Amino acid sequence: MHQASLTIDPSFRIAEVDPRVYGSFVEHMGRCVYTGIYEPGHDSADAHGFRGDVADLVRELGTPVLRYPGGNFVSGYTWEDGIGPRDRRPTRLDLAWRSLETNQVGVDEFATWSRGVGSEPIMAVNLGTRGVDAARNLVEYANHPGGTRWSDLRRSNGFADPHGIKLWCLGNEMDGPWQIGHKTALEYARLAAETAKAMRRVDPSIELVACGSSHSRMPTFGTWEETVLRETYDLVDYISLHSYYEQRGDDRGSFLASAVNLDRFIEAVIATCDHARGVGRHSKRINLSVDEWNVWYQSRFVGEDNLEWEQTPRLIEDEYSVVDAVVVGSLMISLLKHADRVKIACLAQLVNVIAPIRSEPGGPAWRQTSFHPFALTSRHGRGTVLRVEPTGPLYDTAWLGEVPVVDATAVYDEEAGGVTLFAVNRDQREPVALDVDLRSLPGLTVAEHVALFDADPEATNTAERPDRVTPTKQPDVKVADGHLTAALPPLSWNMFRIG
Ligand code: AHR
Repeated sequence: MHQASLTIDPSFRIAEVDPRVYGSFVEHMGRCVYTGIYEPGHDSADAHGFRGDVADLVRELGTPVLRYPGGNFVSGYTWEDGIGPRDRRPTRLDLAWRSLETNQVGVDEFATWSRGVGSEPIMAVNLGTRGVDAARNLVEYANHPGGTRWSDLRRSNGFADPHGIKLWCLGNEMDGPWQIGHKTALEYARLAAETAKAMRRVDPSIELVACGSSHSRMPTFGTWEETVLRETYDLVDYISLHSYYEQRGDDRGSFLASAVNLDRFIEAVIATCDHARGVGRHSKRINLSVDEWNVWYQSRFVGEDNLEWEQTPRLIEDEYSVVDAVVVGSLMISLLKHADRVKIACLAQLVNVIAPIRSEPGGPAWRQTSFHPFALTSRHGRGTVLRVEPTGPLYDTAWLGEVPVVDATAVYDEEAGGVTLFAVNRDQREPVALDVDLRSLPGLTVAEHVALFDADPEATNTAERPDRVTPTKQPDVKVADGHLTAALPPLSWNMFRIG
């Protein structure tokens, strides 16, 4: 058995968790919106056509923010198509996913639904085919109280109160050649700056996210951020990064270490932000929005150019295994470890499309394996993140070199006086005997240990067996003489609630 140890000390503070790191993402893509959150004929549908069973699972997942409506979709989106009487809304070709978009859900319905499931909407504007004018009109439509062209249109559409959307993304993945209206860094930076200026003049209380890199392997990574921040620094609050992970071939060891790659990506983006801060002699800091992250088996996707025109196609409905769930849990540990700079993160996506929740048209909705570490981290990872510095064995990976077997972070709830420790064991065969030094918090005397693992690491949850994989309570945990001791099962995600 491996040995690992770490220390929980309330004076080793990283930062308060911003609850928005537990966000998710709803794109008009595949079956995320249609037959995902929205299905008027479904048994559980409410008066507005939104599925009640899916809404309940979203509440349980715990997503304080939801990004909308894309994604690549937003770069060809005409938001005006999605407002007003539904029977007069046009069907359009969505060029991002070769789909027929009926516009039955738009900004009014989404903002209302999202508040109903306990989430603040984050809205992205189209900087692919559109620009300053469409974006500032959308802010006016959504946030201005009334007495103007766009705010009065919202009111006449039945939404007397402004939606009050506080957080806005200036486009999506504009560095990517696949993006409709893709731009060079300077083209995007200038457009983002002018759009930000106009949006802020309509509503000075909004916060803005500039597009960073679509992934860390982009050839423009680093220089893109440098150019964008040079042109927009005073006008934006956050820069985005997107990161998806999958197992390549049979190299599970590398895949399990994905969070090491996310750590490095986040730290590189922080460095570019602080470089821009220094060079521009700015005092404010730009923080990070990891506004798309997840496990996504991208190599199995046929590619958008090979799709047939379809309405509500089944796109990238990845079925997640135990291994995938452990990776999702470890990626959340990485986000928390960077709580001083990562203020927003969105698990992409919410329902059906690479999602923690699955649903069938006219049928059930269920939790994927990855639902569990996400929901538990969101529920219990509230408070102050503490640096815990695990020591323990390393293992070699083809992708990232030597990486630690155990990764962990702790969140201290000062008010309740409790700590939640999240830990992964990446070893596929050996358990880890974990020793946690709690002597700085003598009041902590009891603990509960919950773990997600399985004899079959490829096991998944399906419509037929929705609870095949769930976290289980572990009996072995002990707290004595200021130390917590427990065993982390091989290939596992773990949560300790210490009180
Ligand atoms: O989440 C799926 C797609 O991944 C999004 O539309 C895009 O932004 C990213 O490339």
